[in-house]
Amino acid sequence: MELTLKSPQEVSTVAVVGGGVIGGGWVLHYLRMGHDVYAYDPFPAARERIQQMVDDTWSLMVDLGLRAGASRDRLRIVDSLEEAVRHADVVQEAVPEVPELKSDVFAEIDRYAPAHTVILTSTSGISMTTIQSKCEHPERTAVGHPFNPPYLVPLVEILGGDRTAPETVQWAVDFYRLNDKDPIVLEREVPAFIASRLQEAMWREALHMIAAGEATVEMIDISIRQGPGLRWAITGPMMNFHLAGGAGGIEHVLDHFGPTLKEPWTRLVAPELTDELRQLVIEGCERESGGRPVAELVAERDRTLVAILRARDEMERQLSDARSGDQG
Ligand SMILES: NC(=O)c1ccc[n+]([C@@H]2O[C@H](COP(=O)([O-])OP(=O)(O)OC[C@H]3O[C@@H](n4cnc5c(N)ncnc54)[C@H](O)[C@@H]3O)[C@@H](O)[C@H]2O)c1
Repeated sequence: MELTLKSPQEVSTVAVVGGGVIGGGWVLHYLRMGHDVYAYDPFPAARERIQQMVDDTWSLMVDLGLRAGASRDRLRIVDSLEEAVRHADVVQEAVPEVPELKSDVFAEIDRYAPAHTVILTSTSGISMTTIQSKCEHPERTAVGHPFNPPYLVPLVEILGGDRTAPETVQWAVDFYRLNDKDPIVLEREVPAFIASRLQEAMWREALHMIAAGEATVEMIDISIRQGPGLRWAITGPMMNFHLAGGAGGIEHVLDHFGPTLKEPWTRLVAPELTDELRQLVIEGCERESGGRPVAELVAERDRTLVAILRARDEMERQLSDARSGDQG
């Protein structure tokens, strides 16, 4: 099929397939961006959850700022996948992370979506080539991997599979940029992409430390919240090392700390999730949250995230103004 994509500026209707944590989050984001949003999830409880999530979080979306015409009344939760996608300019899939399920759902979306529709998966690491394998028109499919919550965290990782057209990847970049996202494109298929892979490495180490009794759940969280996590949101991990090298920058850090990479500080083999380790992690999280419900913790996280994003944007603006003042 020759690709006849609408321009990203012309997109008015988005379908979200799968209404869990990420699907519900995408629904909120696309409503805030001023689109008509169709949502489909086969499980009745999920449909109620989507509506609940929109109702609970809409005031935060209003506070963030709505695009022209944005309204939560533009959400339609429908009874079939066909109904969800048949009017869509773009489909954002968010069903569970199971390769067979994703490829079946993609084949179905591909069957019912109009020819101009781009189909994007939220997968955290399944190969796009696998997901598009049963599609008749795989050229219009790509990964658009968000970070939780998709209505606040700007990053989206984009990549194609073997049969994705390059125009689709570029289309996804333009579309996400227009929709308040900060996309990065991976030139080839890398398992678990970039950010998930980095997260996974740290999660594995954390679980090893908990299993070995070297750290508690709380110690792990404090060590990142009050330590490198604070800096990572400003510089990222690589520039952070550059700044840690004094006047010698990253070169000094590589010479100084490079050799420690060979020390057995990390144990990058996945730990066995034994019953004991599961229990330790679950009890630790319950202790740390003080038994408060997840929805309450999510609302607090969201308010704090908005404050952090605003503070960072404002500082970046001030610093950029100061730099242009210096040059002028
Ligand atoms: N949770 C995260 O932090 C996160 C972050 C980024 C990406 N992702 C990715 O997003 C996707 C969804 O993850 P999640 O955390 O929202 O999972 P989830 O379990 O919260 O939600 C999945 C939803 O899909 C629905 N579903 C199951 N079969 C379906 C079908 N055939 N058609 C439509 N809906 C169906 C389920 O009812 C459920 O509501 C996964 O690919 C995951 O890897 C998750």
